[in-house]
Amino acid sequence: MNVLRHDLQRLAALAEQSAPPAGPWRPGFHLAPPVGFLNDPNGLCYFRGEYHVFYQYAPSAPEGRGVRFWGHYKSRDLLTWEQCPVMLCPDEPFDLHGAYSGSALCGEDGLYLYYTGNVKYEEGDYVHTGRESNTVLAYSPDGARLAWKRLLMRNKDYPAGLTLHVRDPKVWEQDGRYYMVQGARTQEDRGEVLVFESTDKFHWTHINTLRTEEPFGYMWECPDLFALDGQRVLIACPQGVERRGPGFENQYACGYFPVSGDFRGSCTLGEFVPLDYGFDFYAPQTFTGGKRRLLIGWLGMPDADYTNPTAAQGWQHCLTVPRELRWEDGRLWMRPARELEALRGEAQETSFSGRCEMELPLMSELLISCEGNLKLNLSGAELRAEGETLTLTLREGGHGRTSRTAPAGNLRSLRILADTSALEIFVNDGEAVLSTRWYPEGPGRTLALKGEGRIAAYELRPYRVTQTASATR
Ligand code: FRU
Repeated sequence: MNVLRHDLQRLAALAEQSAPPAGPWRPGFHLAPPVGFLNDPNGLCYFRGEYHVFYQYAPSAPEGRGVRFWGHYKSRDLLTWEQCPVMLCPDEPFDLHGAYSGSALCGEDGLYLYYTGNVKYEEGDYVHTGRESNTVLAYSPDGARLAWKRLLMRNKDYPAGLTLHVRDPKVWEQDGRYYMVQGARTQEDRGEVLVFESTDKFHWTHINTLRTEEPFGYMWECPDLFALDGQRVLIACPQGVERRGPGFENQYACGYFPVSGDFRGSCTLGEFVPLDYGFDFYAPQTFTGGKRRLLIGWLGMPDADYTNPTAAQGWQHCLTVPRELRWEDGRLWMRPARELEALRGEAQETSFSGRCEMELPLMSELLISCEGNLKLNLSGAELRAEGETLTLTLREGGHGRTSRTAPAGNLRSLRILADTSALEIFVNDGEAVLSTRWYPEGPGRTLALKGEGRIAAYELRPYRVTQTASATR
């Protein structure tokens, strides 16, 4: 029995028991931490009939400076969620300062969780000295209980020429072998992705490195490599890319490269495409559930200069809804998982020509079809489609968020998922997406529209969230 693990699990459970009352901005259909701080989704998988969503979790540090655990939710239908006890605690010498991001591999005999064990020394610059980025494997026979952890690789096991920044293993099975990608920062401050191969899940060999021809940022976090509708795609979060133009306005970028050739040998990365144009989207991870590939991202942005007022209420951040991915016309499209349509309640429907106003509940879904320019204001979040550009401006409730732009080509439709404090805006059936947090006041929402079109506004029901019974904790 790992005594430290036992104590940390109890401390996390205690922190959750003293969770503050919900408050007006607690999301209804976005997964948020019971208390404390949430960042990246981790270990996403569909295992024995259940979706598992783990996430970076600092239960006792809503402002985000605590060591990371893996929090855990699971669901059979993506609508009713069970809040489970923390899965990974930082309780070994090789992960003492955080069980950082990673992924899940579903085996016949259980769940294999690969992650980065973060260790920080008293002194160092924390890039070249003073830290360890360990690749760790944790095994759970049932997706609930952790059986063991094993250290697989240390910094000395990674290829030469790197700084100590190597992290976020994403693992999958293909052609009877296992593959892993990890994000890395070189000694020359270039971001790249390391590819490893294994035949037994435990012993890994570095077989390739994916990089752009020209340097593109100093570090690539949270890589994900997968094939979708015949196209191989590399998702990554490059840090240090010039902040200019649509999709590059945030502190860090997040998007994908189309990959041509074989990722195990000679291959090239195509042009980088932003995945989301809003203020708050980072560290997405994909997984397959049934026949489709789903993506969940963090509805947040590290080191942003805007804030979330809920930190003062004891919690901060949430995840995006699950999004279905498809590859079409040479690009990635995202739309909300179809299950979410079951959250729809009463609808208000109308055509509009010129101005149109509506009172809306706290949670709603807006389906808008339109022709030509459109202006929309949802309780302080203004969307303006003019010509080729869509601009999101937070006039109220942005807490430092100003405006962001997205290409809208020819705007035909908008689908907006509006939670109490989160907006996910799908343009033209998922051609572009803008995600943001926003914090309007008051018991309801108001919508003002200007343009030509038609709207259906559905009231949305919240997810049902239960908690694992304490007897099994
Ligand atoms: C991305 C990230 C990851 C890291 C994790 C730590 O947001 O920095 O690279 O594993 O967060 O919480």
